[in-house]
Amino acid sequence: MRNLTEHNITEAVLNTLNSDNARLNQILTGLVKHLHAFVREVELTEEEWLAAIQFLTRTGQMCDDERQEFILLSDTLGASILVDAINNRKDEAATPSTVLGPFHREGAAEVEHQHNIAGEGTAGEPVIVSGRVTAPNGEPIAGALLDIWQASAEGFYDIQDESQPEMNLRCKLRTDERGRFAFRTIKPSSYPIPDDGPVGDMLRALNRHPYRPAHVHFIITAEGYEPVVTHIFVDGDPYLDSDAVFGVKSALIAEFVRHDSAEEAEQYGVAAPFFTVRYNFVLQPRDRRDTS
Ligand code: BEZ
Ligand code: FE
Repeated sequence: MRNLTEHNITEAVLNTLNSDNARLNQILTGLVKHLHAFVREVELTEEEWLAAIQFLTRTGQMCDDERQEFILLSDTLGASILVDAINNRKDEAATPSTVLGPFHREGAAEVEHQHNIAGEGTAGEPVIVSGRVTAPNGEPIAGALLDIWQASAEGFYDIQDESQPEMNLRCKLRTDERGRFAFRTIKPSSYPIPDDGPVGDMLRALNRHPYRPAHVHFIITAEGYEPVVTHIFVDGDPYLDSDAVFGVKSALIAEFVRHDSAEEAEQYGVAAPFFTVRYNFVLQPRDRRDTS
């Protein structure tokens, strides 16, 4: 291994990949091949390589328990949604998955149906969210667990905003014997992903905006079914066709229907105007994917 040149360096590196772990060898082989091909294709300069290393260093330095700049980088380069797509292939009838994002928190409380997940002082237009969780054949799934989280009407998750109560706009809910669920919240709005770090600098350099269309996050689990990490998006949002993290799927867009009647509002225990949205989630049975 001497006198290596631009023509034989790739082979020399590949020859060093001798792990006992075959999968590690496979991954590193692909990585080295593609990394070297990329450097050759763009004829990377030394200044550009140093800038890339400084960018990745800043990305790492930005990370802590509450900020995950590497997830943002993966999301904004489409890597997260690509990994999601190849790991969550489903039958067409099943609810598609989308990005998890960096704001999920363990430990949301399980609440009763109709609970208002918007805590004390949370401003916003009331929304009643309801629907069902079923199998692809329409059979209800009783006891499915929905883990739900969303940003405030100002576009901040509780961990980004000290003015919100602890675990605000988060809950877990179980479907009833007919697969139904219902909870109350406030209408989410589109919001920018955190853009005060290197990922924001990258978006600005590319003339890209940092916005995600308004959505509510769900992780749904049920025995005998594949878990699904997904969202409901608000129909009509101006960012549905330019999500900064490429997460929108048409099947996940739902109509938030506005109601202005004070009488109707009273029935739900809210003030007019308020919104209702219905969404039925369809879970993929485990090990029974139709691959024909
Ligand atoms: C989110 O929807 O919470 C999110 C997803 C990707 C990046 C940032 C935020
Ligand atoms: Fe989100």
